[in-house]
Amino acid sequence: MSASTTPAPLAKDDFRYVIGHFTTGVTVITAIEGEELYGTTASAVTSLSLDPPMLLICMNRQSATGSCVGRVGRFAVNILDERQPDLAYRFASKSPDKFDGVEVTLGCFGEPLLVGALAHLETRVVEQTAAGTHVIFVAEVERAQAGEGTPLAYYRGRFSRLHIEPDA
Ligand SMILES: Cc1cc2nc3c(=O)[nH]c(=O)nc-3n(C[C@H](O)[C@H](O)[C@H](O)COP(=O)(O)O)c2cc1C
Repeated sequence: MSASTTPAPLAKDDFRYVIGHFTTGVTVITAIEGEELYGTTASAVTSLSLDPPMLLICMNRQSATGSCVGRVGRFAVNILDERQPDLAYRFASKSPDKFDGVEVTLGCFGEPLLVGALAHLETRVVEQTAAGTHVIFVAEVERAQAGEGTPLAYYRGRFSRLHIEPDA
């Protein structure tokens, strides 16, 4: 029997480089508390269950939007269209004016929905768990609608477009 060795801990940069090969869509998570609007660009969004319809998001503990979601228990997922990298940059910032000049409609609980996004999902948090630097919010989807378009993608630290094969 060969002796087992414990691997050296994986370096943060090595993990970032490798996991960056997993291509994701790009969303903006939005929430509201009183009159205050919150929004953050997020790629850590996963469909979880169809019945009931559920998804999860992972929010850094430093995220003002994530903290708001923890307090109010509701958020919307805005799936960005490929024409919206500007919104992805804007909502990845810490600017207090992120919503200035951004066209929104209001969801059923007042949360801002970004006009022109490819799809919107309005959710209610049912569970939250701390993990590493992040908080995982598990939520039931109460309303969802999608339009026509092509999603913005994120690959190895860059915004990208999908090449979609025509139907055979
Ligand atoms: C493409 C992309 C994806 C991101 N995904 C996430 C994510 O899934 N979760 C997260 O907490 N932050 C994510 N961020 C970082 C946040 O957008 C960023 O920290 C933002 O400033 C947080 O804003 P807030 O503090 O106002 O919520 C991502 C940034 C980019 C550019």
